[in-house]
Amino acid sequence: MDIRFDNAGVDFGARTALFPLSLTLGERRIGVIGLNGSGKTTFARLINGLAKPTTGRVTVEGLDTVEDAKSVLGKVGYIFQSPQNQIILPIVRDDIAFGLKARGHGKAEIDQAVDAILGRFGVPHLAARRAHELSGGELQLAALCSVLVTGPELLILDEPTNQLDLKNRALVQKTIAGLPENVIVISHDLPLIEDFDRVLLFHQGRLAADAPPAEAIARYRELAA
Ligand SMILES: Nc1ncnc2c1ncn2[C@@H]1O[C@H](COP(=O)(O)OP(=O)(O)O)[C@@H](O)[C@H]1O
Ligand SMILES: [Mg+2]
Repeated sequence: MDIRFDNAGVDFGARTALFPLSLTLGERRIGVIGLNGSGKTTFARLINGLAKPTTGRVTVEGLDTVEDAKSVLGKVGYIFQSPQNQIILPIVRDDIAFGLKARGHGKAEIDQAVDAILGRFGVPHLAARRAHELSGGELQLAALCSVLVTGPELLILDEPTNQLDLKNRALVQKTIAGLPENVIVISHDLPLIEDFDRVLLFHQGRLAADAPPAEAIARYRELAA
């Protein structure tokens, strides 16, 4: 997958969340690390058009995230830091079906796709559950189903193991490791990204390292010390 930042930066009023940045991303699994407030989420939101660059541009497979926003949204799925915020409908099955319905698919096709994705993640038993009653790990899996059912080529996960107990964390780690899609994972949970293809370290809104995991993590430890 080809993602390009061309001098892309984001300001919120007088505050610069991300200083203008140029880079090309093509690796299948990319980690994003850095202290709180360093610009990680802003960087990731630029890739699916949730955030708009105040300078420069971002393209995904040649599509401009602002001008071709709809096509980009179809290619890039995003799981928020708090997945409960992206649940649209109360029952898990309906929430997973929502994106397909919005795209005009028929009922039989939707039912089949929902069953297939729940099966893929080993959670058919969640179908009839209320999303707001799920455990943290179950909620992450339900959110994965809702996003991946529409077939994005790239999935961005923002701190997916935040607030999970050890058991749910292990489940989410294993699930991410098994995803065939391209993934970008923002995390403070360093073991999650230590075998990734490339790791970007942000510091005070700037890219402070762009390296293999061991090197980027070592640099992060220096910055945090
Ligand atoms: N919508 C917003 N309005 C104003 N400031 C924001 C907004 N979103 C992020 N920021 C600021 O931009 C900086 C980077 O934020 P963010 O990208 O969320 O960092 P991270 O994900 O690394 O914690 C922070 O200083 C944050 O307060
Ligand atoms: Mg963040």
